[in-house]
Amino acid sequence: MSKRCMKERAFVKKTREFSKKLPIDVVKNLLVFDELDSTNSTAKELAHDGAEEGTIVIARKQNQGRGRFDRIWQSPEGGVYLSFILRPRISAEKTSLLPFVAALALTKTIESYGLHATIKWPNDVRVNGKKIAGILLESEVIGHAINYVVVGIGMNLNIDITHFSTDIQPRSTSIIHELGSPVDYHEFLRTFFIQFGSFYKLFVEQQYDRIIDEWKTHTDTLGKTIRVQTSTETLQGIAFDIDQSGFLLLRTERGEIKKIMSGDCLYFDELYHT
Ligand code: BTN
Repeated sequence: MSKRCMKERAFVKKTREFSKKLPIDVVKNLLVFDELDSTNSTAKELAHDGAEEGTIVIARKQNQGRGRFDRIWQSPEGGVYLSFILRPRISAEKTSLLPFVAALALTKTIESYGLHATIKWPNDVRVNGKKIAGILLESEVIGHAINYVVVGIGMNLNIDITHFSTDIQPRSTSIIHELGSPVDYHEFLRTFFIQFGSFYKLFVEQQYDRIIDEWKTHTDTLGKTIRVQTSTETLQGIAFDIDQSGFLLLRTERGEIKKIMSGDCLYFDELYHT
């Protein structure tokens, strides 16, 4: 057997063993793959076919990892690529808070390594102003009810950032890059699942205020002058608050208040530096 093949098998075996010892409610069934096109695409197919809440798809690497706005999510080995299948019984509007749940879990996990992590609304986690993780939410709503939500997480763990294309390298970082040494993949995963479980519990209990208050202590978006590209317009102004559904409140230069559900957010103070 080739060295590469042994490495692939070891990952799948070790991760399956690891999943058996997880005392966390939100992890019901961890489906482990060596390589997938996209864990989100596989999770969506499984969810569509009825996979239960708490099914998680994880892969050592992805060949066609997807980011927000149809961007490519470069997914070399050394990263964490996983997708949760969730079926929360809440109003569809509140799904905007699921990226908050995921971002908080990531932030807390990263901070357990002594790094300071911040959240950039809506879906980015950063260390030293550079992106270290992203979240891709995809859902199916039938009528007003959520059939499923897939929460995809891409986390730059033990990735040498020179493996990223030159266009994203200056804006990206990884745990190994920040710490100067690799961290244990499964240890990271364990802490992350515990954190995700506790924030998701608050979410299903509809304790939205607690999630939002915690999020506010970790974001670096509020108070900043930003430019947001939504699906229909480009807006500019000061991000001054978040509402109960995680929508961003922006005060434009003309003093208008805009409520933004989702978009691509750029910080003015970084526009010409990255
Ligand atoms: C973004 O910041 O644009 C979101 C990136 C999300 C990437 C993750 S990796 C695991 C999951 N599968 C995908 O294809 N995408 C998400």
